[in-house]
Amino acid sequence: MNTRKTLCVNGKGHLEIGGYDCVELAQRFGTPLYVFDEDYIRGMMRVYRDVIANDYGDGLVLYASKAFSCEAMYAIAKQEGIGADVVSGGELYTAMKAGFPAKKICMHGNNKLPQEISYALDCGVGLLVLDNPSEADLLEEECEKRGIRQDVLLRVNPGVEAHTHKFVQTATPDSKFGFSVGSGAAEEMTRHILAKKHLRLRGFHCHIGSQIFEKQSFCIAAEKCLAFMANMKKTLGFEADTLNLGGGFGIWYTDEDEKFTLDGYAAYLKALIGAVKEGCAKYGLNAPRLMIEPGRSVVGEAGVTLYTVGAIKEIPGIRKYVAVDGGMFDNPRFCLYGSKYTAILANRAAEQPTELVSVAGKCCESGDLIGVNMNLPRAERGDILAVLSTGAYNYSMASNYNRNLIPPAVLVKDGKADYIVKPQSYEDLVRNDVIPERLK
Ligand code: LLP
Repeated sequence: MNTRKTLCVNGKGHLEIGGYDCVELAQRFGTPLYVFDEDYIRGMMRVYRDVIANDYGDGLVLYASKAFSCEAMYAIAKQEGIGADVVSGGELYTAMKAGFPAKKICMHGNNKLPQEISYALDCGVGLLVLDNPSEADLLEEECEKRGIRQDVLLRVNPGVEAHTHKFVQTATPDSKFGFSVGSGAAEEMTRHILAKKHLRLRGFHCHIGSQIFEKQSFCIAAEKCLAFMANMKKTLGFEADTLNLGGGFGIWYTDEDEKFTLDGYAAYLKALIGAVKEGCAKYGLNAPRLMIEPGRSVVGEAGVTLYTVGAIKEIPGIRKYVAVDGGMFDNPRFCLYGSKYTAILANRAAEQPTELVSVAGKCCESGDLIGVNMNLPRAERGDILAVLSTGAYNYSMASNYNRNLIPPAVLVKDGKADYIVKPQSYEDLVRNDVIPERLK
């Protein structure tokens, strides 16, 4: 466990998060339950914000809200004075509902829908990151109609390989994202955008992948982007004033991963800033406005999912299944990526693990597991199982598969807990169902 003041084992031998005993959380709110530690989220936002302000100067942290999007998250980001990255009309709508300042929103998407583009303009988002020529045409048309000029970035692919799962790598040569710097495609697209009267190209964006621990990959990507900026200055006379280096900082899931503290993340970002400064000096560029888009590292370790242990099945000589009241509908990451997690029994958190088990979900699907070979004390029906580091890409990728209910989420701080996502009901499941007359 990556223990901290707000995630620890308390005097009763129970797991405690944000000063709240997890057994009491399970009793009060039921399980499965997503729990978020507010201090951790704010701490991470502040580290990134302050390192940029103190060590770099002009910049903006954009919380990558795909990691966990709900109104309360945008409210926290707004209070912390950072921006947000959105990738769909739905994320943008959620941010707007939370009163988030549109000017601090950067909108992504490899295939933004025409209605998403016009909604983004209605809202007045600060930046749109262009990722194909036709959306530049579409945006130009929309802006012309409205008589406005929109700030945009171009997503480039610096061709840096990040050592992470192939589904979350984004800067390989055959990525669906961005324009290759190496092949000349990025230069061609830069020309295409510069020719638009109603688009103001501010600079470039890259994102090399997610759950990355090697500082070096980020530093190389930054260097390649700066080299490209210098090249654009020389060949097109275009001087970019913004560089957005995306997200991707890794977090602790199991003891195979590095354990970072807030200071560790500060060092990570300082290394990246060092590379940006060096690149600017090397290529004779003015320091651009620097943006980063962390998602997982802001909210991942802030989250814990609580389950109640139900059926236990031992297949002699093969494996033992400990089934919980959740599964792939609240956390599909094992099914999608074979992701590893650490689980503990929240009501017996001080006990040493004694056996390796597979934690199974309740869906009608063999692959519906939270994890295999999870090290636990002997679990019994009724135990509260806590899966750690589930704050990112769990709720945001949850589904109603098998018509299971997506669990609610609570935010904890100083021993107080509040819903930030209310529980679904069976009524919610059928709310949009329709039986056509002819079927009656
Ligand atoms: N910016 C862009 C353009 C991105 O595509 C992403 C993540 C981020 C920022 C935030 O990256 P982070 O700091 O969270 O690593 N569902 C996968 C992760 C997909 C990440 C997609 N893009 C998972 O569960 O591992």
